[in-house]
Amino acid sequence: MTAVRPDIAPKQAPEATQFPTGFVWGAATAAYQVEGAAAEDGRTPSIWDTFSHTPGKVHNGDTGDIAADHYHRFRDDVALMKQLGLKAYRFSVSWSRVQPTGRGPAVERGLDFYRKLVDELLEAGIAPVATLYHWDLPQELEDAGGWPQRVTTDRFADYAAIMAGALGDRVATWTTFNEPWCSAFLGYGSGVHAPGRTEPASALRAAHHLNLAHGRAIEVLRDQLPAGAQTSVTLNLHQVRPLTASAADADAARRVDAVGNRIFTGPMLRGEYPEDLLADTAHLVDWSKLVQDGDLAAISRPVDVLGVNYYTPTLVSMPEKGESGSGNDVHGASAFSPWPGSEHVAFHLAEGKERTAMNWSIDPDGLYNLLMDVTRDHPGLPLMVTENGAAFDDYVSPEGRVEDPERIAYLHGHLDAVQRAVADGADVRGYFLWSLMDNFEWAYGYSKRFGTVYVDYASQRRIPKASAHWYSDVIRRHALPQGGLS
Ligand code: FCB
Repeated sequence: MTAVRPDIAPKQAPEATQFPTGFVWGAATAAYQVEGAAAEDGRTPSIWDTFSHTPGKVHNGDTGDIAADHYHRFRDDVALMKQLGLKAYRFSVSWSRVQPTGRGPAVERGLDFYRKLVDELLEAGIAPVATLYHWDLPQELEDAGGWPQRVTTDRFADYAAIMAGALGDRVATWTTFNEPWCSAFLGYGSGVHAPGRTEPASALRAAHHLNLAHGRAIEVLRDQLPAGAQTSVTLNLHQVRPLTASAADADAARRVDAVGNRIFTGPMLRGEYPEDLLADTAHLVDWSKLVQDGDLAAISRPVDVLGVNYYTPTLVSMPEKGESGSGNDVHGASAFSPWPGSEHVAFHLAEGKERTAMNWSIDPDGLYNLLMDVTRDHPGLPLMVTENGAAFDDYVSPEGRVEDPERIAYLHGHLDAVQRAVADGADVRGYFLWSLMDNFEWAYGYSKRFGTVYVDYASQRRIPKASAHWYSDVIRRHALPQGGLS
């Protein structure tokens, strides 16, 4: 072995740490947030169409009728992704576009949109990652009772079979649900999301049926997809922290962890609901009737990878009578709690941390801890960060540029956290920036911009922000830039 003498070694910056070989770089969107074309080619309303058209539900009365017009502009959008060097694109399918009543045969025109999108991606060398459900239940199924009704799981299994049949030959990574916590507890608990119901028992029933629908869809996908295909689910696992070291605050954290996290990871990854969750919510639902024979075996069918979405940690306390938290209305304020059985827990904003335009505190260690916690609790489970990103008040400069140094700093900090978790043993397979482009941010409408590409909604012009160029560079290097943030 020849050693290089230090005095003649080439003077170079030290090599930046590389992300693991095969680490996937992507960006994510969701159907209702970007597609538009709400009434085209046979698509019928989903619960989000109904909700956004209900006065007072969404900021400024905004709707997804046009959104970022991705339905018509997907070819240009894929070209932009290619230009940025993205290796994967995570999108969701609008159920009511492919199966307008939520039942029966598919509409070919609806399926064709996704076939064309996927072909365009493959042609550009970008791996499609398909999510079956990102919150947009066909309105007809909500009219029949929605997720609190068990029969909706039959509908979802049929829909999964349709999609596997249509795209199974060309999509290698499938996700059943995006953030079922939001569907159950914001949709049926606090009511800040569609369908806007405020029924704690229905929210718990919805959670069980979302779990069951996930397991049934995994079975269908496994049956129909080629052997190499990967199946997954994406959870917004709350990184719960107690406000103080008191026993009361520890109990608050335990409760939120139960109904925020373990209500999904328990049945999906361990085949059982946690005892403490059942006890905390026993006055609301009769779990022994809700969970039928065979359900837990169905729900716990193995997934190949777990998707985790992370934005900000969750700081909680158990207040004395009369006290309240400083607030943490992560997806919109409501008089109704999204925490059935734990309504008295108070939520706080961390002091002394910078915040995004959502008023979410910026805390990359939360992502590191989350990845390490999941790795500790479920050793060997491959992970994928399926969403991470931030909203800021971006604007176009007179020179036509969008400078977003805060987003670059946010992404840098969180990618560094991913790298630290990988170094400490977490098996993280990829990272998807939320979002590819500005879009309809649910109850906040178009007022919050999460994109790395700016969308001028009046002209639908796309302008990659400075962070898009930065991210491109990270992808090219397969490493974070060293010594500073650019
Ligand atoms: C997540 C959602 C995504 C987007 C981001 C900001 O909870 O999955 O659609 O709204 O938050």
